[in-house]
Amino acid sequence: MKVALAYSGGLDTSVAVRLLQEKYKADVITVSVDVGQDPKELKEIGKKARRLGAIKHVHVDARKEFVEEYVFRSIKANGLYEGYPLSTALARYPIASKLVEVAQREKAEAVAHGCTGKGNDQFRFDTTISIKAPKLKIIAPIRELNLDRKQELKYARKHGIPVPVKVGKPYSIDENIWGRSIEGGVLEDPKRAPPEEIYAWTRAPSKAPAKPRVVEIAFKEGIPVALDGKRMSGLELICKLNKIAGTYGVGRIELIEDRILGLKARENYEAPAAAVLIQAHRALEQLVLTKQELAFKQVVDQTWADLVYSGLWFDPLREDLDAFIDATQRRVTGNVRVELNRGSSRVVGRSAPYSLYDEELVSFEKFGFDQRDAIGVIKFHALQGKILRKRMGK
Ligand code: ARG
Repeated sequence: MKVALAYSGGLDTSVAVRLLQEKYKADVITVSVDVGQDPKELKEIGKKARRLGAIKHVHVDARKEFVEEYVFRSIKANGLYEGYPLSTALARYPIASKLVEVAQREKAEAVAHGCTGKGNDQFRFDTTISIKAPKLKIIAPIRELNLDRKQELKYARKHGIPVPVKVGKPYSIDENIWGRSIEGGVLEDPKRAPPEEIYAWTRAPSKAPAKPRVVEIAFKEGIPVALDGKRMSGLELICKLNKIAGTYGVGRIELIEDRILGLKARENYEAPAAAVLIQAHRALEQLVLTKQELAFKQVVDQTWADLVYSGLWFDPLREDLDAFIDATQRRVTGNVRVELNRGSSRVVGRSAPYSLYDEELVSFEKFGFDQRDAIGVIKFHALQGKILRKRMGK
């Protein structure tokens, strides 16, 4: 049997290579998908897979597609689940899609992934695979054999699988251009502060430059198109902004997160660009969308994030919501300036051609309309409350 395995080079998927060979008698084709994780790790990944006995390794660069088809939509939807910018969640869909494509091209009978039965990723993988290729068998060896981390480590040692988690730092890390997630080890105790060693993209706010820095982001129809006046691709812009905002300690997120299965998990993220871009995008929407649009879109955005988090990217509702979101974004064009300062980011300026802000109308300095017109409006304000009080004889 030929199996295409989504391979990251980490412990779970490395163990999975061997398990597939040993317990499933499979020929394993490993597939790595570049969604902007550490290039150092990707460089060695093919060699590592072959050393574990994979018959072939296929690498797919999906960075541009990830940014343009997934991250851009998330920015337009202000995509946050309980405060989490959905980085891992979003990336699972293109990874699973590429896995299916490789499996079909290589005529594999099954696809495999290293997810455990506790997390969210199994939902995202399995739904994507079964929607794209209903006949393809799905194997998740760690889940099927009900292995815990200790057993995995034992198996790894026994089979000479290099264990990437360093002793004393047993973190499970997932990374792509939209964010980095760190779980496990001491982080599992929510009483304890996340140790500084878990961070790789952000400086401690206390070690950030003393002088704040302002960045300017230009949006066109909801999508970031320029940074500090320089036009660039989404990929480049996000990479640059991760570096800049990370230097200022912006984008550290600590959460108790409600997983799909109902488990509460202690999650830590670094997502400097995502934090700044979502904040800036929202600030621009406040300037150009009506009060009614903003209120309704908040509900839409929330539902969108829930779907994406829960493995339901391919639910028709997600596409319906995107149609609404895209309609609102036609006017979300303009510039937002954000000040980065020792772990915090703050919108300090915004402008837009379709701005609904009317300085003349709102200004204290001059009156753009006759103030006395307000009197008539107020007479009707709270009308129903006034009637009720009268009925009750008050
Ligand atoms: N809690 C986040 C999510 O479900 C991040 C999961 C990170 N995954 C990982 N294998 N470390 O999307």
